[in-house]
Amino acid sequence: MFGTTKSVLAAAGLLLGSHLPSALADNPIIQTLYTTDPAPVVYNDTLWLFTGHDETGASNYDMRDWRLYSTTDMVNWRDWGSPMSLKTFSWAKADAWAAQVIEQDGKFYYYATVTKNSGGYAVAIGVSDTIEGPYTDALGKELLSNGGIDPTVFRDENDGNKVYMYWGHNSPAYHIVLNDDMISYEGSIAQENLQNFVEGPWLHKRGDKWYLTYSSFGNGNEDIKYATSTSPAGPWTFAGQIMASQGNSFTNHAGIIDYKNGSYFFYHNGALPGGGTYSRSVCVEEFEYNADGSIPLLKMTSEGAAQIEPLNPYQRVEAETIAFSSGLTTAAAGDGGIYVTSISQGDYIKVKGVDFGADGAASVDVSVAAAQGASGTIELRVGSQDGTVIASCEVASTGGATTWETVNCPVTGATDQQDLFFTFQGGDYNFDWWQFNKAE
Ligand SMILES: *[C@@H]1O[C@H](CO)[C@@H](O)[C@H](O)[C@H]1NC(C)=O
Ligand SMILES: *[C@@H]1O[C@H](CO)[C@@H](O)[C@H](O)[C@H]1NC(C)=O
Repeated sequence: MFGTTKSVLAAAGLLLGSHLPSALADNPIIQTLYTTDPAPVVYNDTLWLFTGHDETGASNYDMRDWRLYSTTDMVNWRDWGSPMSLKTFSWAKADAWAAQVIEQDGKFYYYATVTKNSGGYAVAIGVSDTIEGPYTDALGKELLSNGGIDPTVFRDENDGNKVYMYWGHNSPAYHIVLNDDMISYEGSIAQENLQNFVEGPWLHKRGDKWYLTYSSFGNGNEDIKYATSTSPAGPWTFAGQIMASQGNSFTNHAGIIDYKNGSYFFYHNGALPGGGTYSRSVCVEEFEYNADGSIPLLKMTSEGAAQIEPLNPYQRVEAETIAFSSGLTTAAAGDGGIYVTSISQGDYIKVKGVDFGADGAASVDVSVAAAQGASGTIELRVGSQDGTVIASCEVASTGGATTWETVNCPVTGATDQQDLFFTFQGGDYNFDWWQFNKAE
């Protein structure tokens, strides 16, 4: 798949000019594990992406926790670990399926699908004072008495800030209006008839139109269709297909959001190595609404969205800030901090569009930890994983796998905007953060 990605980028370079390939991103956007059911939300000028998580090697749906990532440039994604899991809900035992977070009065509410200990699907609600969690059980039981999966939540600012929740599975879709406490609802459950609705509703608004996007029976695998309305409560008018059946995952699931002037369509497929129906990965495409407000037909690509702004290397950057990676994964330390681990010979991390400035960098600090006997070298390269080496940082034992030490290494040849690659020699050491220092 790397060969394919490179040749696509090379073709784009020929067409669009040589500076543009580095502005293209790589799908799927997370490579350290399998992610599903994207639910983006913009908060504090950052795009936060809540996802599900397919266990590696699963031969059926095996989902035990939810995951969180963030970006400010649409290509470099910071890993925040797992903000919520089945363990959060003592009354739930399986199926950490689709979920979405919404803020209300400084608290964050996380509406999620689970299967109860007693059997049957349910909507669980997590709550946290911070968007990154950890979330705790807000209600101690299911929200709805009739089960239901795939909740989507949306605040209607035109209607007293009422929060609407839609959900549904192989049936009509349903909706309720949540009370201000976010853990109960007013009135009764309304039923919606959406053409070929299966699951995964996503409710959003643009201009004076509301959009209900959903997973539907396509040609084999699920496709994504949508309906529109002049009210968040419907009635809904079928509006067409957004993404045809494509890729090698049976399900697909949409999340749509505007961020920094761009419109983005998140979905999942089986495009990572080893991927498929039970090992899915979240991807993103940028799109423009048609003049009449309709959404164009989108294709799954390996390029993804363009970079919005360059990354500043002269501030501390978490090592788990990744545009693309190979081989390694991430883990949470005792204090919840995330670091890069499972490093072995030849693994790499790509950070896209790093702006070193005209004067460039003099040195770089890397925070690493290595148990007795573990050692290696982090080679920093620009352009590609085989590109020019700008720094070589030796990693020796620090006395423990999470005993962090900062290593300072001289840098040569890092100027202007470049894709930065951390290529790992040796292995079994861990990597927490990095920061460049400017040339005088
Ligand atoms: C908002 O983002 C800034 C910059 O990343 C951060 O320093 C600040 O703590 C964030 N504020 C909240 C309320 O999350
Ligand atoms: C968004 O568009 C406005 C108006 O065209 C512009 O002033 C602003 O700089 C843009 N913001 C970003 C982040 O591109």
